[in-house]
Amino acid sequence: MRIKRESSMPNREVLYLSQADVEQLNIPIKEVIQVVEDVFREKAKGKVEVPPKPGIHPQKDAFVHAMPAYVPKMRAAGIKWVAGFPENPKHGLPYVSGLLILNDAETGFPVCVMDCTWITAKRTGAATAVAAKYLANEDSKTLGILGCGVQGRSNLEALTSVCKRLEEVKAYDISEVNLRKYVIEMTAKHGLTIAPVNSPRMAVENCDIVVTAGPILKNPQPIIEASWFKDGGFACPLDFDSYWKPEAIRSMNKFCTDDREQLGYYRQQGYFADIPQVYAEISDIISGKKHGRENQTERIMSMHLGLAIEDVATAMLVYEKAKKKGIGTSLPL
Ligand SMILES: NC(=O)c1ccc[n+]([C@@H]2O[C@H](COP(=O)([O-])OP(=O)(O)OC[C@H]3O[C@@H](n4cnc5c(N)ncnc54)[C@H](O)[C@@H]3O)[C@@H](O)[C@H]2O)c1
Repeated sequence: MRIKRESSMPNREVLYLSQADVEQLNIPIKEVIQVVEDVFREKAKGKVEVPPKPGIHPQKDAFVHAMPAYVPKMRAAGIKWVAGFPENPKHGLPYVSGLLILNDAETGFPVCVMDCTWITAKRTGAATAVAAKYLANEDSKTLGILGCGVQGRSNLEALTSVCKRLEEVKAYDISEVNLRKYVIEMTAKHGLTIAPVNSPRMAVENCDIVVTAGPILKNPQPIIEASWFKDGGFACPLDFDSYWKPEAIRSMNKFCTDDREQLGYYRQQGYFADIPQVYAEISDIISGKKHGRENQTERIMSMHLGLAIEDVATAMLVYEKAKKKGIGTSLPL
């Protein structure tokens, strides 16, 4: 049987996209947010394949995760092989590094290999923004960011695109240098008030939205108290339960996640020792199967573990744009 190929690469070649190649495409965050919301809709219909991510752990609190996924509607099939090494910044290296392989959905052949750092930053911010669209108060004005690194930047960028009334960011980082850099860069980029604060408590209290993006710890020493978090607030931890005390998580009226199965898988691995029942997955809220925010005083948290469907769908966007613009290097298989 002849296989009908729509791929523009009949020769056995892969397109290699370096970090600089991906970045120079300058894909607007709005487009990534749209892709991530679309992919959650497909998840709600059960039309995606996204097994929980297995990993290896060569250093303390470090990981290399294998994240395969398939989204038929977008013909997006592939795997991200992503590392997070907390000691890297001490050696002048970023915490996150990795590669993503896209496969032709008809033949299985790899068609593209790309650096995955841009995608990891943007799709995570986009997922927070999509969740905020349904779960944060519409008139959210104040955002607390704890951890002013890559995610602290991309989450702010994505949230400004969805939360139009944001006025002030309270930023906290354990590193004074990183905090100062963040304040200067983000003030120039977003035209909001970016206020450095000198305690985690000050970055949580009175904030309408709180994003925690410090390190993920297998044995967390969480410090955020229930009483710090404002009624009506929306919280999105990206660092698992490392920052939020169990009582603070339990004080939420709605505890959501991006994927129940993955949360269960991590519990088996020893994470999330003390969390409440999941109210809903984000995908079920977007699709209308479950209510999102129902009043202005609800306390809502969405625990995002990061899903490979977000990665492969965003990677398709990157791949298509790169082909159109003739960016990247063709390599023989
Ligand atoms: N859930 C997801 O989908 C997802 C996706 C990507 C990254 N992450 C997680 O997000 C977190 C941040 O990743 P990143 O790429 O931005 O890392 P990064 O190294 O770029 O930034 C981390 C920042 O946090 C600061 N920091 C360290 N400990 C802190 C603390 N206790 N309080 C406040 N700040 C602290 C560091 O000084 C640094 O500025 C990591 O835990 C990573 O695993 C989650």
